[in-house]
Amino acid sequence: MTWRPLTGLIFASACLAQQLALTPPMGWNSWNKFAEKVDAKAVKEIADAMVSSGMKDAGYVYVNIDDTWEGKRDAQGVLQPNEKFPDMKGLADYVHSKGLKIGIYSSPGPQTCAGFEGSYQHEEQDARTWAAWGIDYLKYDWCSAKTVYKEEEMPAVYKKMGDALKASGRPIVFSLCQYGLRKVWEWGAASGGNLWRTTGDIEDVWKSMATIGFDKQTGLEQYAGPGHWNDPDMLEIGNGNMDEVECKTHMSLWAMLAAPLLSGNDLRSMADEIKQVLTNREVIAIDQDKLGKQGFRVSKEGRTEVWAKPLEGGDVAVALFNRGDKAELMIAKWGDVGLNGKHVVRDVWAHADRGKIKDLFEAEVSSHGVVMLRVSK
Ligand code: GLA
Repeated sequence: MTWRPLTGLIFASACLAQQLALTPPMGWNSWNKFAEKVDAKAVKEIADAMVSSGMKDAGYVYVNIDDTWEGKRDAQGVLQPNEKFPDMKGLADYVHSKGLKIGIYSSPGPQTCAGFEGSYQHEEQDARTWAAWGIDYLKYDWCSAKTVYKEEEMPAVYKKMGDALKASGRPIVFSLCQYGLRKVWEWGAASGGNLWRTTGDIEDVWKSMATIGFDKQTGLEQYAGPGHWNDPDMLEIGNGNMDEVECKTHMSLWAMLAAPLLSGNDLRSMADEIKQVLTNREVIAIDQDKLGKQGFRVSKEGRTEVWAKPLEGGDVAVALFNRGDKAELMIAKWGDVGLNGKHVVRDVWAHADRGKIKDLFEAEVSSHGVVMLRVSK
C-alpha cells in the first residue's frame, strides 16, 4: 500500500502552497526608491530599519530585492548574484535573524526588464537555488519573455515556475508581474500565483496612483481572496511627490482593495508623518482582514467616491474619497454599503469613535483626501 504516504505527501505540499499569503503580503520592495542602486548593504539596513521603525510590529515582514541583483551562471548553469550581493545565503540568514522574510526577483525570459540574467530554461534550477539561499518570495516579471513566448503561453509559462517553486520544498510566495495582460486575474491563481499585478508600473505622482487605484481595479474584486490577491503595485508613500493627505488616500485605497502593502520608500530615513501613515494599525487591519474581501466603489458623484469593504464579523470599512481639487461635503449612505439602521462608527485616521449613527455619515473631505471608517453593528 505504497500509495498512502505518497498521497499524503502530495496533499501536504498542496496545503503548504495554499497556506501562503492568506492575507495580502506586507513588506518592502527595493524598486520604487532604489531601482538599480540596491545592494546587500542597503538591504541589511532596510531590514534593521523595518524593525527599529516599528514597521515589523505593524505587520510588514517581506524585504524584497527587485531587479538588478543577478550575475552570471556558473559552468553548471547555477545563477550567481552579481558583485552588489556577494553572499545571498548570508543576507537571507541576516534578514531571517531579524524575524523577517526575504524576497527576490526574476523573469521567465532570457533577461529581466533591466537587462540582467533571467530564468529562461533554468526554471527548476533557479527555484532550487533560491530555496537553498532561504528565499521566501519571488516576483516574476514578464519582460523579455515576450521575445521567446507567445502571449497566450503566459499561463503555462507562469505555471512552470509555480510548479518549480512548489517542488523546491520551501514555501515561497509567488508574485506574478505581467502588468495585467490577458486578464491574469482569471488564471493567476491556477498558475500558482499568490498575487498578480493588474496594471503597468505605478509612479510617485497622484495621477498615476489615483488612476491605478480608483479606476483600474473595478470589477476585479471577485478574483481576490485568501492566498490569491490582485496587486495594484507597490506603495509610493514617502517617496516625495505625494503630500501627507495624498499618502493617506494611497494607503486607504490600497487597504480597501485588500492590496499587498509593499512599502517602496527608504525606511532608514522616513519622516515621522510617513511612518504614521504606513503603520496605522486600524487601516492595516482593514487591509489584512481575514475575510479577504476586496472593497469596491458603491457610489460616485462628481469627483467624490464612496467605497465599501465587507469585514469579518459583519463590520464594514467605508471610505469617503475626494479626488477633486477642492474640499467637499460628502455623504456615505448605510443603504449603499449594505447596512441599515444605527451603527457604531470609528474614524480610523482620527483614531476617534463617532458614536452610534443612523442611516448615513456626513463629513467634509479635503481635496485628494479621505475619511475612512470602520462601521460596526
Ligand atoms: C518592471 C516591473 C517593475 C520593476 C522593474 C524592474 O517594470 O513592473 O515593478 O520590477 O520591471 O526592472
